[in-house]
Amino acid sequence: MAIRLGDIAPNFTAQTTEGEVDFHQWLGDSWGVLFSHPADFTPVCTTELGAVAKIKGEFAKRNVKVLGISVDPLESHHGWIKDINETQACTVNFPIIADPERKVALAYDMIHPNADDKATVRSVFIIGPDKKVKLTITYPASTGRNFLEILRVIDSLQLTAKHKVATPADWTEGQDCIVTPAVSDADAAKLFPKGVRKIKPYLRYTPQPNR
Ligand code: BEZ
Repeated sequence: MAIRLGDIAPNFTAQTTEGEVDFHQWLGDSWGVLFSHPADFTPVCTTELGAVAKIKGEFAKRNVKVLGISVDPLESHHGWIKDINETQACTVNFPIIADPERKVALAYDMIHPNADDKATVRSVFIIGPDKKVKLTITYPASTGRNFLEILRVIDSLQLTAKHKVATPADWTEGQDCIVTPAVSDADAAKLFPKGVRKIKPYLRYTPQPNR
């Protein structure tokens, strides 16, 4: 079944390259990114896992744990990690789920039979500390993901979870935010002492409140 925003992320136990993981327990109070790969020893996936390994510190700074998944078996993952480390000049420093029975892939609807009936698509799930799904994105096998975009979304999710703002198109950390429509002008003036710039009654900007 499709997983929608606000749903509790399905829990599972799985073998990973860093031991058995009970997903919810493993997440603890952290945010999580679960991202799938069509298969081991494939070129785009190899670059993606290398890219994530290199910015693991950026995820950690945001209290986010990352967890990859591919439906190939554990032994294959370990061999592949050697190749990833060699070719991407990195050290894979996060667990990758081995899901040969496709239990996790099916629970997260990562197999789209009209695209490929065996391999997973490139799914991303961002999960909050409340275990609820905050974002889903789906890329085809042919297109590698932009993990700086994932970090950008996490910045927005974490900000908007705490403050009554939304973030505009292409927003990045430090730029002005949008006052959410439910906040009255009077309340906005109190909530955002750095000022509110009103372009239209529904379009009001304020400096990022947590900086
Ligand atoms: C890749 O990761 O390179 C890939 C996987 C499946 C289909 C096409 C590309």
